[in-house]
Amino acid sequence: MASDFAAVMEAGYTFEGETVLLGAPLMDGKVAATVRVRVPLSMMNRHGLIAGATGTGKTKTLQGLAEQLSAAGVPVFLADMKGDLSGLGAPGEADPRVLERSKAIGTPFTPAASPVEFLSLSGTRGIPVRATVSSFGPLLLARTLGLNDTQESALAMVFKYCDDSKLLLLDLADLRSVLQHLIGDGAAALQQYGALSKATVGVLLREITELEQQGAGPFFGEPEFEIEDLVRLTQDGRGVVSVLELDDIQDHPALFSTFMMWMLASLYRELPEIGDSPKPKLVFFFDEAHLLFEDAGKALRDQIEQVVRLIRSKGVGVFFVTHTPKDVPAEVLAQLGHRVQHALRAFSPDDEKDLRATANTFPRSEFYDIPKVLTSLGIGEALVTVLSPRGTPTPVVATLLRPPSSRMGPIAPESLKKIVEASPLRAEYAEAVDRESAREVLAARAGAAPASESAPAGKGAAKETSLADTVGKALSSPAGRTLQRELVRGLLGVLGVRAAARRRRSGW
Ligand SMILES: Nc1ncnc2c1ncn2[C@@H]1O[C@H](COP(=O)(O)OP(=O)(O)OP(=O)(O)O)[C@@H](O)[C@H]1O
Ligand SMILES: [Mg+2]
Repeated sequence: MASDFAAVMEAGYTFEGETVLLGAPLMDGKVAATVRVRVPLSMMNRHGLIAGATGTGKTKTLQGLAEQLSAAGVPVFLADMKGDLSGLGAPGEADPRVLERSKAIGTPFTPAASPVEFLSLSGTRGIPVRATVSSFGPLLLARTLGLNDTQESALAMVFKYCDDSKLLLLDLADLRSVLQHLIGDGAAALQQYGALSKATVGVLLREITELEQQGAGPFFGEPEFEIEDLVRLTQDGRGVVSVLELDDIQDHPALFSTFMMWMLASLYRELPEIGDSPKPKLVFFFDEAHLLFEDAGKALRDQIEQVVRLIRSKGVGVFFVTHTPKDVPAEVLAQLGHRVQHALRAFSPDDEKDLRATANTFPRSEFYDIPKVLTSLGIGEALVTVLSPRGTPTPVVATLLRPPSSRMGPIAPESLKKIVEASPLRAEYAEAVDRESAREVLAARAGAAPASESAPAGKGAAKETSLADTVGKALSSPAGRTLQRELVRGLLGVLGVRAAARRRRSGW
């Protein structure tokens, strides 16, 4: 191995301050075990992409980053698509392959568990996470339901109608009641809301019912999850790793991806601006990120792009994990400073094209033939370039990645159950609360004739008003195209509605 290779990598990956270890450089099949490939902790809010073909080690890379961030006092949020990231909550096993890999890299293998919190959208494999229909907003809900543009505008109108009529939308039952009311007794109101035809309302109703039948009902409602609960440290100063267990809702990619979007937007709203900081406030890993962008309309793509861009100044890093960089829109991709590219296959002409496109997203390298390396990397190896504290990309380096210190593969079900039962979040979120909202108000009105369109609000309605207000303003703006933009901006603004309840929790 040329000595200037080791020297260039040593210089390129030596930083002041704390770092996260990726592994050791690889050149012509040999490991430069004296050199370390690292990411500066202070730059972990600069976002990243972990990509590669199936089974190449993307999830283990994510796991390795997550556990080191936690150890360095950075809270982490991650989506566990297949249940295999639950292993973060148990120490790893020193099997011969792991020991051999550690030895090759020149680091001791020390098994360790991270402090984990399991969350679940269905409430079956973790602390139930809920959001209200109102804070989700029409744009994300339209995406969850797979609505077309006309239906999406109709849904936005329904939100506006609810605002005008002081109807609080908390769960899907509320929304269903409102839609039923609009087809039935409240049909007169349709005329005041241009985009609302009886037929479209009928379609929305069918879609909502279908979503409920697919089991998404428990997710919508109260108590709404406080984003602040993701940003916690243990008493010994480690970052809590919040693992969202998703293998039970795999048939629901849209719910998962819109939920992640809701979470990002909520984080953006609730966290204060911080300037440059020695470490991020929270790092967010988005596994199977292609689900977020697939079939996403322009409005949602714009919103994702905007949130990703702005959230950096709040000290939040976002890592997308997916098969190829092509899965991520160019505007988002341009913001991902850290790149861990695992092996790509090049069987078909399409694969070849992808390979060339991926290679072109890397800085030039004086040492590697990038397309060739990309197809010859082994499992748990990747082509890496990260952002240095000066904001410049580090030299491209093929890297033998360190094995995670926590368990590779799922945690035992009993251990998961124990962790959930001991969670300090249980008292707050375990039980759903059904306070008075649209469904109850409409039922009461139906009972007490004549129905009045301006019946008094359910308690709490007032604080939600700016949601539909913003949407309403957006919708009544003159130009159709401005409308979409307004909706996007509106949504971000809208998310500021709920006052953040500041609470202190003991237990960690
Ligand atoms: N850094 C690593 N250290 C040790 N073993 C690894 C490492 N990375 C990958 N492996 C091995 O490769 C296997 C597959 O890795 P992983 O599950 O991370 O792949 P993936 O790219 O996420 O696959 P998929 O696309 O199917 O989700 C692991 O179960 C493990 O045995
Ligand atoms: Mg994986």
